[in-house]
Amino acid sequence: MRFACGFDHGGYPLRETVFDALKTDGHVPVDLGATELDSGDDYPDFALAVVRAMISGDAERGILVCGSGAGVAVAATKVKGIRAAMAHDTYTAAQCVEHDDCNVLALGARVIGPEIASELVAAFANAVFSGEERHVRRLAKLDVIERDGVDAQL
Ligand code: RB5
Repeated sequence: MRFACGFDHGGYPLRETVFDALKTDGHVPVDLGATELDSGDDYPDFALAVVRAMISGDAERGILVCGSGAGVAVAATKVKGIRAAMAHDTYTAAQCVEHDDCNVLALGARVIGPEIASELVAAFANAVFSGEERHVRRLAKLDVIERDGVDAQL
């Protein structure tokens, strides 16, 4: 599977770790920067690049890394069709796909080290949406909220 990958300066230390973890399981990282450490860069720029690659069909899922994981998760989820989860445990990294059909994993390089990051990337990348009726039903409700905002009727 192709994974669009983006890192701001806070996430940059995990860049090679993420690429290596994906390649180990036969996945293909699509490198959308940053390609150098620049403390003046902004995480929304990388989040947008990643979700653009996904919406265009160049990648099926995304991995975004900033300092905490929070900024890139919020930024990615602003785009229709993107379901981003920040996960720093393997249970969540897999379950967010199996139950919630999440398509972006957000990590914080100031929170976890490379060993945990590798395990999280593998858990997310190899997880498959279950397709169970209750999860499909809940995802349909997310679509309604995304479409209608606070006026949504669930
Ligand atoms: C950058 O200093 C930091 O704010 C960013 O990487 C991220 O942690 C935001 O959520």
